Amino acid sequence: MLKLENITKQIAGRPILKDVSFEVTQGQTLCIVGPSGAGKTTILRTIIGLTNYDSGEILLNGQKFIPQIDNINQGVIGVVFQDFRLFSHLSTAENISLAPRLKTKTTPKEIQAATEKLLAQLGLTDKADLYPFQLSGGQKQRVAIARALALHPQILCWDEPTSALDPDMRDNVVSLIEQLKQENITQIVVTHDLDFAQKIADQTYELAPIK
Ligand SMILES: Nc1ncnc2c1ncn2[C@@H]1O[C@H](COP(=O)(O)OP(=O)(O)O)[C@@H](O)[C@H]1O
Ligand SMILES: [Mg+2]
Repeated sequence: MLKLENITKQIAGRPILKDVSFEVTQGQTLCIVGPSGAGKTTILRTIIGLTNYDSGEILLNGQKFIPQIDNINQGVIGVVFQDFRLFSHLSTAENISLAPRLKTKTTPKEIQAATEKLLAQLGLTDKADLYPFQLSGGQKQRVAIARALALHPQILCWDEPTSALDPDMRDNVVSLIEQLKQENITQIVVTHDLDFAQKIADQTYELAPIK
């Protein structure tokens, strides 16, 4: 489904990614594992189009895919950032409905119905009118997931989804990833937590730091 071939990237003359190649299959969960500083977040930023790469190729369903054009325009790949990046001046419901309001031709009524469905799916119905500062870490993460899902991405990426959570919340993330997998959402999960990766991964890609 999404295939990276020999992606290479330097930042300020220093090699950060070297010949990164992997493929994630429709409906499967790929874990990208590796130590801190190995370039895991940089890979995610590259495939969603937040940063460029120097060489290599990215293919989506066999077609050349240029994230900085194709993903920014079409929202094929969504992301749940490590620190969630919620809009602090918007309520839970507004965080979730903002992108659909800006990006799709859907009517306000349809957007409201879709937002209510996502709130229910993620157990956030009673938090709809609260602001990020009024939410726990796990709740903020669920808002970030709902916000990403609101654009119906084909692929959902997660950056270190267990790092900001209490250990007992980790199992909730495992269940959420499994629940989304049941819905046939393709997922790429970046983590340095091998035990967590083992629980969710169909495939693992190991990213070693460049020597
Ligand atoms: N915008 C940037 N400017 C300079 N260095 C960066 C930038 N982004 C990432 N790096 C460097 O690239 C390396 C990989 O970073 P990152 O992708 O965040 O690793 P990981 O997520 O695996 O911990 C690190 O050495 C980091 O300091
Ligand atoms: Mg990182």
